[in-house]
Amino acid sequence: MESKLTPEAALASLGWQIELGATEAVGDAPVDRYTLPEKAPKPAAKPAHAPPLAAPAKAPPADPVAAAEAAAGAAPTLEALRSALDVYPHCDLRRGARNLVFCDGDPGARLMIIGEAPGRDEDLQGKPFVGRAGQLLDRMFDAIGLARTGQTPEAALYITNILPWRPPQNRDPEPAEIAMMRPFMARHVQLADPELIVLMGNISCEAGLGRRGVTRLRGQWTEAYGRPALPMLHPAYLLRNPAAKRDSWADLLALKARLSTSSRR
Ligand code: URA
Repeated sequence: MESKLTPEAALASLGWQIELGATEAVGDAPVDRYTLPEKAPKPAAKPAHAPPLAAPAKAPPADPVAAAEAAAGAAPTLEALRSALDVYPHCDLRRGARNLVFCDGDPGARLMIIGEAPGRDEDLQGKPFVGRAGQLLDRMFDAIGLARTGQTPEAALYITNILPWRPPQNRDPEPAEIAMMRPFMARHVQLADPELIVLMGNISCEAGLGRRGVTRLRGQWTEAYGRPALPMLHPAYLLRNPAAKRDSWADLLALKARLSTSSRR
C-alpha cells in the first residue's frame, strides 16, 4: 500500500505512537483492525427447552509459589533448573518475551550477581546484562579484576536476574511475579553455590531481602539466600546518575577486599 503521508507527517505519527508506549514494530505491513471481520462467530441461541448444562468440574486454583517451589526443588542441576523455568506456566511475562534469559558467565565463580529483569537487548540475545547497563557492569567489575569470561573462579563472574523474562515496556515486576520467581532464585543460588552475592538494584533487594531502598541499603553487607550479600546501585541507575558512581566504586573496593580475605574454597 502506497503511503499518502508526507515524511514530516509520518515522523509525527511515529513520535505519537512512541509516546503512547509503542516500543517495537511487530509487522512489516499496517493492519486496519476496524475493517477486519469479527473473529469468533456468536454462539447459537440455546433452545428454551434445552436441559441445564452440568457445571464443568473446577480444577483447584493453582498456587504459583507452591508450584515454583516444587519445580525448583526438583531440579538437580542448573540445566534442569533452566528447563523447569522454561516450562513453568504461571508467569504471564513469558508470553511477551522472545527468549528465556537464564545466566551468563561462569557458574563456578566465587561471585554471583543477581540483577533485576532483562531489557530489550537481553530479550533479543537471551543473555543477562548485554545492553548499555550491562556494558557498564562489565567495566565496573573489570576494574576489580573480575569478568564473565574470567578463566578461574577467582577472576570469574556469574550473572543472572530475578526475572528470566522481559516485562512489557520494561515495567517494574509485580510483587506476585517476584514471589513466584523467588524459589527459582533460591535454588539457583544453591546449585551455583557462590561464596558472595551482589544484589544489583531494588528488585533484587526486594526479592533477596524483602525490602527496597537500595540507595540506603547499598554498601552494607547483609545475608541473602543464605550467603553474604552486598546490595549495590544498578548500573542503569548509574547511567542516569553519574555522580553516584563514587558510591559504587567504594562498594567494588569493599567487594574486592572481602574476596581477598575470605577463602571458603
Ligand atoms: N538490567 C538488569 O537488571 N538485568 C539485565 O539483564 C539487564 C538490565
